[in-house]
Amino acid sequence: MLGWDDLYPLPVPPSWVPGAAVGILSLHFVQKLLFPYFWADLRYLLKVMTYGLRMEMYRLQGRVVTVLDKFVKLAEKQPHKPFLIYEGTVHTYRDVDRRSNRIAQVFLQHEALKKGDTVALLMGNEPDFIHVWFGLAKLGCVVAFLNFNVRFRSLLHCVSSCEPKILVVGAGRVYSSFLHPKLLMFIGNVVYRYFIYRFSLRNALMHYFDFITGLPKAAVISHLQILKGAAGLWAFGATSEDIIYITLPLYHSAASLLGIGGCIELGATCVLKKKFSASQFWSDCRKYNVTVIQYIGELCRYLCNQPAKEGEKNHKVRLAVGNGVRNDVWREFLDRFGAVKICEFYGATEGNICFMNHTGKIGSVGRTNFFYKLFFPFDLIKYDFQKDEPIRNKHGWCEKVKKGEAGLLISKVNAKNPFFGYAGNKRHTEKKLLCEVFKKGDLYFNTGDLMVQDHDNFLYFWDRIGDTFRWKGENVATTEVSDVIAMLDFIQEANVYGVSVPDHEGKAGMASLILKHNASLDLEQMYKQVVTYLPSYACPLFLRIQEKMEMTGTFKQQKFRLVDEGFNPSAITDPLYFLDNSKKAYILLTKELHEMILSGKMKL
Ligand SMILES: *[C@@H]1O[C@H](CO)[C@@H](O)[C@H](O)[C@H]1NC(C)=O
Ligand SMILES: *[C@@H]1O[C@H](CO)[C@@H](O)[C@H](O)[C@H]1NC(C)=O
Ligand SMILES: *[C@@H]1O[C@H](CO)[C@@H](O)[C@H](O)[C@H]1NC(C)=O
Repeated sequence: MLGWDDLYPLPVPPSWVPGAAVGILSLHFVQKLLFPYFWADLRYLLKVMTYGLRMEMYRLQGRVVTVLDKFVKLAEKQPHKPFLIYEGTVHTYRDVDRRSNRIAQVFLQHEALKKGDTVALLMGNEPDFIHVWFGLAKLGCVVAFLNFNVRFRSLLHCVSSCEPKILVVGAGRVYSSFLHPKLLMFIGNVVYRYFIYRFSLRNALMHYFDFITGLPKAAVISHLQILKGAAGLWAFGATSEDIIYITLPLYHSAASLLGIGGCIELGATCVLKKKFSASQFWSDCRKYNVTVIQYIGELCRYLCNQPAKEGEKNHKVRLAVGNGVRNDVWREFLDRFGAVKICEFYGATEGNICFMNHTGKIGSVGRTNFFYKLFFPFDLIKYDFQKDEPIRNKHGWCEKVKKGEAGLLISKVNAKNPFFGYAGNKRHTEKKLLCEVFKKGDLYFNTGDLMVQDHDNFLYFWDRIGDTFRWKGENVATTEVSDVIAMLDFIQEANVYGVSVPDHEGKAGMASLILKHNASLDLEQMYKQVVTYLPSYACPLFLRIQEKMEMTGTFKQQKFRLVDEGFNPSAITDPLYFLDNSKKAYILLTKELHEMILSGKMKL
């Protein structure tokens, strides 16, 4: 009898197989142990490279492919697919394409706009923001997005620094106090005011980064950067099936480039919200089957601070893309709202560097490795906090920090990673560049952000340096605030800086004041001044009245000490005041009030 074994002889493995198996297995373990992020890194790098190659091909073929080109193609390919959902109304790809054409015609006929003209746009989140943007882009105009929170002087500065031919203002905003409307126009049922200026020029799109160093300035963003920004959602794994919920203001690049641009890159649908609402957030997500959300750190915290409700995990959101979420909030968010993949990224609008958390390490903005650095050359250099400048050694060179230490992030500027600078402002452009960093003739972009790289090469955001701080997701320039305060006749000097408040992202504004001789502090006038001339996020939350500025040390050193001392009335003998929004006044900052702020009982 033949046994089964004879009919189907069991294959006898060659003698090297067990060895190889053990080898492969141990290789696998070695990889897991030594290079735990190997596959995640490789996948991410391949994605970045594929995209880079595609763009390089376009370039070689002499094609400028813009996000708008892609949109127009999609409007032909999928005319009936919803592109934008706003307050329940669906705008398909074709709808948006047609309406932007109509707007382009209106601009062409009434304003004779031509290719290269700059147009400033001052509008809130609404479909017409996108219609006007696309319409102008179709004419080849450069569109500058203005932050609508910026007031008076700053706005005037914004407008004059980008030298627009016209300014388009959304409905319900009247800035007639400083601009003279030439004509009023009606597009649909929305009134636009036009203000005529003489100037022209600039390439692609200009983006108003609300307030950075001194007065607001526009970063010039090339088509290439727009495309790179638009690739963000795709790189995080979003697809054309996704529905993206945008609640951030469109004048920020996060919403317009990553959000709207990213949606076009995918051919997906986005749900646009006029203004973020914590209480409506999840119900909106459920109503519109949202799968991807965009966040800033504050947004996640506001959502976590909402009273817990039944069925909070009942939604389809799978990806959250953004930046600035704190570790504890990140954990709580995942705990409460279910398995949402949080994709933290770091990127400077005008810079040429970005990181993405492609591995899922809580708290980290991303990871770097040898290959990534080949494509995006960057370094972390030693920084002198007291002098507020990079440290130069005795030979005049900057030095890299060790792993685990905070250093200033700088990225190399060259032909592959160009920096386009700021519109109409050479000085600002120069201020953001560092020359002769490691050797003669090299050039780096100074991001103004301190980062830490740990031993596994994960990067963590540490702090912002220089004359700006971030509050409620907006950048505040300290000189802008002190200029406004110094306009008061009883103020001798105002020194503005940001202070950390426990459990809050960014820094709260604080102003240290010296009164004029014989003058007394008028808190009522102070309050009126800041709320009239500054956007709410820029109004100093704390005031400190000093007898006199100390003469020792530099101005920067004094500021360093003031920041360090913070706003604790038990530690500071100078009188302190707090901006109480509910009372619409500055009130004395007592120990009890200080307690309430720390414990979160007093809302900031
Ligand atoms: C959301 O998805 C459900 C089930 O897939 C579907 O029945 C519903 O119509 C969708 N809602 C919207 C607004 O698309
Ligand atoms: C980012 O980190 C989170 C951590 O919760 C992870 O779930 C997510 O997958 C990471 N993002 C990407 C793109 O991998
Ligand atoms: C300040 O007030 C005192 C008395 O109240 C007065 O003598 C002095 O001239 C004042 N100084 C100035 C600069 O106004």
